[in-house]
Amino acid sequence: MVKLLAPSILSADFWRLGEQVQACIEGGADILHFDVMDGHFVPNITFGPVLLESIRKHSQIPLDVHLMIENAEKYIPEFVKAGANMISVHVENNYHLHRVVELIKSLGCKAGVAINPGTSLKVLEEILHYVDYVLVMSVNPGFGGQRFIDRSLQRIRELKVMIEEINPQVLIEVDGGIKEGNITQVVQAGADILVVGSGIFAAQDVKAQAKKLKDLIVS
Ligand code: DX5
Ligand code: ZN
Repeated sequence: MVKLLAPSILSADFWRLGEQVQACIEGGADILHFDVMDGHFVPNITFGPVLLESIRKHSQIPLDVHLMIENAEKYIPEFVKAGANMISVHVENNYHLHRVVELIKSLGCKAGVAINPGTSLKVLEEILHYVDYVLVMSVNPGFGGQRFIDRSLQRIRELKVMIEEINPQVLIEVDGGIKEGNITQVVQAGADILVVGSGIFAAQDVKAQAKKLKDLIVS
């Protein structure tokens, strides 16, 4: 199966954002990952649709929005309007998960559900019938640059088994603490989409680093 590299712009140098996004794309990035935080669901505040809108104007690759916010339903149409192609919401704070997933799909986007490290995979059983992807958090959401939680590898393997049984089309996206040193293990565990923030943007040469990671996941 195709493996996709999704740089998370959260760790970019925002002064040079356009240049760094371009470098990622030239290095082989398949998707751009946007971490939207509201200071309520997670203890950090980032950005909203206005940022996607500017990047959309200058790039063609899919824009993947990871919503770490309360009342996601209310903001989804704006993100679609701004150019989102994929949107994920957390299982932990969306009571009407099926309704939110159906809303995302009805607006023409791929729909995903994100799950925190402390949440049992069992909650995914029903929603797997409806989603396009599951975003497995391999750190607690809120900040870039955290350490990969090792048990995530086992969770990815277990989720893969559930997906094979319930809905084999569903992709696994993994997010948090992925670097040059562990990306191969994450792929081998069953990840299809690899989100990498500081593992790309902390490098001097962003394009070369993206290329290095892309080569590791496709080989
Ligand atoms: C954390 C975010 C991640 C994060 C990844 O809440 O969802 O996407 O930016 O950054 P790194 O790769 O630095 O852990
Ligand atoms: Zn994310």
